[in-house]
Amino acid sequence: MANSLVFGVVLALWIQYVSPASFEYVNQAKWYDDYSQCSFKRQSPIELNTNESKISYDLPKLYFNNYQMLYPQKVVVENNGHTANINLPKVDVESLFGKSLLNQILPQIYGGPLHADRFIAESVHFHWGSKDTHGSEHVIDSTRHTMEMHILHRNSKYDTVEVARENPDGLAVTAVIFQAHEDNYDFSGLNSVIERLDMVENYNTTTEIESFFILDNLITGLDSDSYFTYEGSLTTPPCSESVTWVVFTDILPMSHFQMKKFHKLRDEHNTVLQNNYRSLQAKGSRVVTLRKHAVKK
Ligand SMILES: *[C@@H]1O[C@H](CO)[C@@H](O)[C@H](O)[C@H]1NC(C)=O
Ligand SMILES: *[C@@H]1O[C@H](CO)[C@@H](O)[C@H](O)[C@H]1NC(C)=O
Ligand SMILES: [Zn+2]
Repeated sequence: MANSLVFGVVLALWIQYVSPASFEYVNQAKWYDDYSQCSFKRQSPIELNTNESKISYDLPKLYFNNYQMLYPQKVVVENNGHTANINLPKVDVESLFGKSLLNQILPQIYGGPLHADRFIAESVHFHWGSKDTHGSEHVIDSTRHTMEMHILHRNSKYDTVEVARENPDGLAVTAVIFQAHEDNYDFSGLNSVIERLDMVENYNTTTEIESFFILDNLITGLDSDSYFTYEGSLTTPPCSESVTWVVFTDILPMSHFQMKKFHKLRDEHNTVLQNNYRSLQAKGSRVVTLRKHAVKK
């Protein structure tokens, strides 16, 4: 009896010790105490200013490979208390076809600042505000837009996101920024996700996307030729300094009606999940490159 009590206390302490502290957007200063990397010098997001960037016309294009792939399993959206998160299914082609082919089948990016390394798409999530006047994490030329979508990719030379994020070249995140417009035309590329948000308004709920899920749909019409790129971090704890950022300059239009669906999500305290974007971090001595595509004469 006494033994099991001692065991229980020790177990409780151990769980408290190893389980990561939760984090809140309303108290971002606490992140520095709980997660040391959040105060390091390669943090994200930062302000991206054209006038302070190294303009490049010869940085290669970023390539999207297999973004048209139809995921064979159901794709799940979850409200994790911080965002609506889509963990892309682990397609079991590895056992079917072997690891070399895995890299040829799955949606991935390469080129641009990533050179020849292949980065496999792992998950998609969103950052937004309390109103449509703000919400994006990166601020471009003094403007904070309505929403920012992140597609997180893992360098295929690492086996998992957890391992990848411990390495400076482990992750690549493509950021697509949206602006809600008065004309209120839906951005149809997001509809398969947005139409399911009603089902995940509460914390720790999940739902399946009903239609076939194709990553490419999420970036329908995006001009991916022009982007800012820099070396940064995850914008949520543990703030791992492992991310090559690619932030497209093409701002996609969406409707206020679509944004309202995000604004109805609730966090673990059952309060409205809003302003889930991190404050701007110091750029420091880092170089931000702005890729422009040469205009044909
Ligand atoms: C660049 O532009 C931003 C506003 O867009 C301004 O705040 C900043 O001071 C400018 N930087 C330089 C070096 O001119
Ligand atoms: C989340 O939901 C699952 C299953 O519905 C449950 O087992 C788990 O304890 C919940 N987690 C939290 C933190 O509420
Ligand atoms: Zn993010």
